[in-house]
Amino acid sequence: MTSSHPVPSRRTFLAGAGSLGAIAALAACSGGGAGSSGPDTEADPKDQTIGVAMPTQTYERWVQDGANIKKSLEKEGYKVTLQYADDDIPTQSQQIDQMVTQGVAALIIASIDGSALTSQLDAAKAAGIPVISYDRLLTNSENVDFYVTFDNYKVGVTQANSLLFGLGLLDEKFKKASDAPKGPLNIELFAGSLDDNNAHLFWKGAIDTLQPYMDDGVLEVPSKQTDIDQCAIQRWEQETAQKRMENLLTTHYKGDKKLDGVLAPADPLSRGIINALQNDGRGDTIKDGLPIITGQDAEIASIKLIADGVQFSTIFKDTRKLADQAVVAAKAYLEGKEPEANDTKTYDNGSKVVPSYLLPVEMVLESNYEKILVDSGYYTEEQVEKGQA
Ligand code: BGC
Repeated sequence: MTSSHPVPSRRTFLAGAGSLGAIAALAACSGGGAGSSGPDTEADPKDQTIGVAMPTQTYERWVQDGANIKKSLEKEGYKVTLQYADDDIPTQSQQIDQMVTQGVAALIIASIDGSALTSQLDAAKAAGIPVISYDRLLTNSENVDFYVTFDNYKVGVTQANSLLFGLGLLDEKFKKASDAPKGPLNIELFAGSLDDNNAHLFWKGAIDTLQPYMDDGVLEVPSKQTDIDQCAIQRWEQETAQKRMENLLTTHYKGDKKLDGVLAPADPLSRGIINALQNDGRGDTIKDGLPIITGQDAEIASIKLIADGVQFSTIFKDTRKLADQAVVAAKAYLEGKEPEANDTKTYDNGSKVVPSYLLPVEMVLESNYEKILVDSGYYTEEQVEKGQA
């Protein structure tokens, strides 16, 4: 499942440093995490506490991630310290400082700002604590042992493909539609938080997919805001996305100028954008004229909107599997082994290529949410109807 798409160079990453670096890095920390001394591989799990640092509880997924990691670690017999940081960088730094001082055996970290924890990671290394970077890449530090995540470039490609499908430019096999509209169709673009490495990969995947249509004039961005810096939503905040959409409507969509689609990188942002559009009288559902709006995370409130024909798509990333993968990796280090990577090329964090385990992603639409999410037991039909899990 190796992706050939490096971390964007605007973050000064050493794209394409290749797998040799990764092998060297693995060898260097063989069996002992990033730490000089390494964990006590003879210790009983019940005498070991794992520190789990999560960014925020405002996104449904992180609440589930934290709970799933804790459950999975406890099943293996470990004790767990789980902390959320309210999307506040100093709070997260302090929480990790405390975990290191407290003598945790391993750290699993989903960062707020991936580059803001270098001194905490230095301290973890000095104490021999292996560090697993969880979903978001920890950057600019040698002291990251392993990365568990999804195929983030593919998330962006899939979001863009769903937008093109919703606009009638691709058919249900995701090939060029024979009856595709000539356009121009009007779209607007949103990106995630710039300090989250994932936001850049989602953006790159999406823009690489949409660019040919923009170049041909089939897609137009009336605001001309096509740079990630103009489209980014700091801290992934729903209200900020809603405000940006309101401003775009006031400035670029006066009168009955049509907006056909919006690239939205996460479900809460999609819902903020939908609020702005509905308040502007652009229809309650897609049938009533609401634009095609993408998403990510398969949050229950958005699955209801998809079932009701309001939001067009989202991306399902099975965070239960991600949590298990993080635990497999932590356990391997604690037992003096090396976790298995399935990507040793893509994730150059600016200091090293971090060996990674990537999980797949799936596009969710009104036509397949039942199969992907209900039949698999992820949500019940009642939860979808209520929009609450
Ligand atoms: C995650 C997404 C999430 C976003 C906002 C990203 O790092 O990969 O799943 O929607 O953060 O929390």
